[in-house]
Amino acid sequence: MCGIVGYVGPRPALPILVEGLRRLEYRGYDSSGVALVNGERTVAITKSAGRINVLEQLLDYEHATATCGIGHTRWATHGAPTDINAHPHTDQTGRIAVIHNGIIENYRALKTYLAQQGVEFQSQTDTEVLAQLIGLRYHGNLERAVREALLEVDGTYGLAVVCSEEPGVLVAARKGSPLIIGVGKNENILASDAAAIIAHTTQVVYLADGEIARITADGFKTTTMDAAPVTKELEEIEWTLDQIELGGHDHFMSKEIFEQPAALEMCMRGRIDPHTGSVHLGGLTDCARELTRAKRIILTGCGTAWHAALVGEYLFEELARIPTETEYASEFRYRNPIIEDGTVVIAISQSGETADTYAALCEAQDRGALALGVVNSVGSTIARQTDAGVYLHVGPEIGVASTKAFSGQVTVLAMMAAFLGRRKHLSQPGASQFLEALSVIPRQVEQCLATADQCRAVAERYHERLNWLYLGRGFNYPVALEGALKLKEISYIHAEGLPAAEMKHGPIALIEEGMPVVCIATNCAQYDKIISNIEEVRSRGGHVIAIATEGNRGIHEVAEQVIHVPDTLDPLQPLLTVVPLQLIAYHAAVLRGCNVDKPRNLAKSVTVE
Ligand code: AGP
Ligand code: GLU
Repeated sequence: MCGIVGYVGPRPALPILVEGLRRLEYRGYDSSGVALVNGERTVAITKSAGRINVLEQLLDYEHATATCGIGHTRWATHGAPTDINAHPHTDQTGRIAVIHNGIIENYRALKTYLAQQGVEFQSQTDTEVLAQLIGLRYHGNLERAVREALLEVDGTYGLAVVCSEEPGVLVAARKGSPLIIGVGKNENILASDAAAIIAHTTQVVYLADGEIARITADGFKTTTMDAAPVTKELEEIEWTLDQIELGGHDHFMSKEIFEQPAALEMCMRGRIDPHTGSVHLGGLTDCARELTRAKRIILTGCGTAWHAALVGEYLFEELARIPTETEYASEFRYRNPIIEDGTVVIAISQSGETADTYAALCEAQDRGALALGVVNSVGSTIARQTDAGVYLHVGPEIGVASTKAFSGQVTVLAMMAAFLGRRKHLSQPGASQFLEALSVIPRQVEQCLATADQCRAVAERYHERLNWLYLGRGFNYPVALEGALKLKEISYIHAEGLPAAEMKHGPIALIEEGMPVVCIATNCAQYDKIISNIEEVRSRGGHVIAIATEGNRGIHEVAEQVIHVPDTLDPLQPLLTVVPLQLIAYHAAVLRGCNVDKPRNLAKSVTVE
């Protein structure tokens, strides 16, 4: 899924559309295009493969006076990323233009049907089939044509449609792919992501699945697929413009790494009270009793969110003593999961739009589980689908490599574990001690950020080595996985994360002279065991980069480089140890000349299977 922007109002639409598309670039895309409704018989389309800069070369701003239009960034699913396959797509007459996020699953059958009606296709996309179908169903009422066409469609869509015969009208529809209407003064902006809206207004309406909107400059009307009117509540977006701008940083990733202290403060604000040992999570109030009675918790998510879930598993078992397991969302949804009375499923997702996580959540609900969300993006698909949940409140995350969202997820899971713990076995002094330690984490993350130069030095020394290992034990095992993922996704270096003791069961065969092995060796009950693992690495020529607690015994003797993090309770160490790993990955990617914020092949949120 990529980007949709639509504008209708008094101002020239083109600059607004292009600026909106730029704000959605972070999501990853391969081509872009715009359609303007300018009073002519056909809609004016400009589109091209490649970056938005390429599109801009083709645009004629001077003569683009149209005040209604749509713009798209495409991430190809059907048909190569070529000029022709870029959106918008039109019907045969050129009157109707469509942009689409998602997949039309029955496009082959529809294409055959349309061909029988004499339709000739220009592109290989599934989206053009939809444009042609809407064209065929159009008899003077665009909204009706879209509705009729969608009744024949299987699949997922976030859709924006314009028609030269109805200037000043945008029709939008959603099923499984987000759309938001930004409500301005005598103007409305449609987008697939709040980032394209907040420069203009913070008042928004989130379309729900199965809803169609007819949007004009002075208002909008929302209906169901059966044309029943739906009244929508205006909501306020919390994000600010500076949160989605670089603000002096070279990359969003570094901005977001350095934002972590402030982000975690926001995440915890008003939610914990170390003195009384209590946690207030407004989103859980209505389900607190059911949650407390949970016999089993399943945490699910993908990628970094799955790593945060693994930390969560340790936290829930340690603090609340509830049997907890972590499942990849993509596996959970297909493996006939066992959901019994008292099973609670918690879906973790930064974007709230990840297709696998959403499907796992729905599967859990169908099987009768209480389904909660730990989500960053307010109003996102997953957030809306859950029975209850806790928002991260760490602000928008733009860099494709997740950093502050990981810290936010772990922080929320720590608060949830303490919340539950207090209702089960955790004593008040125990909870107070835990929350006290949690409350100083933002300050300690600051100290971790001060190791940036050392992390850069590690990257300088090893960024040409193409195989790295990351080792951690206990709470730091998921951090080892996360450190390896960060390095892989932005610097294209192969890295593997392991529970340290597992290394000797196979991966040790990989170790050769000079291979960088990042070992998380902070103060914990298993410190001596980790030192033994480090010795095993060293004796085979591996170079150990240790993430250690200040004053750790013997670490300088066994490691090539030592990066210190402050001391905290074992369960909270991931919030500190992850920071140098983020910085090492960041610097390695920069030194290797990689596009840090838009790594190859990756999209910010993966809304396809
Ligand atoms: C993290 O750096 C990744 N780009 C990726 O693994 C991500 O965490 C995963 O796709 C899940 O995304 P979500 O949190 O938005 O659901
Ligand atoms: N399936 C459509 C295509 O390949 C839309 C892709 C997207 O979501 O960007 O053109």
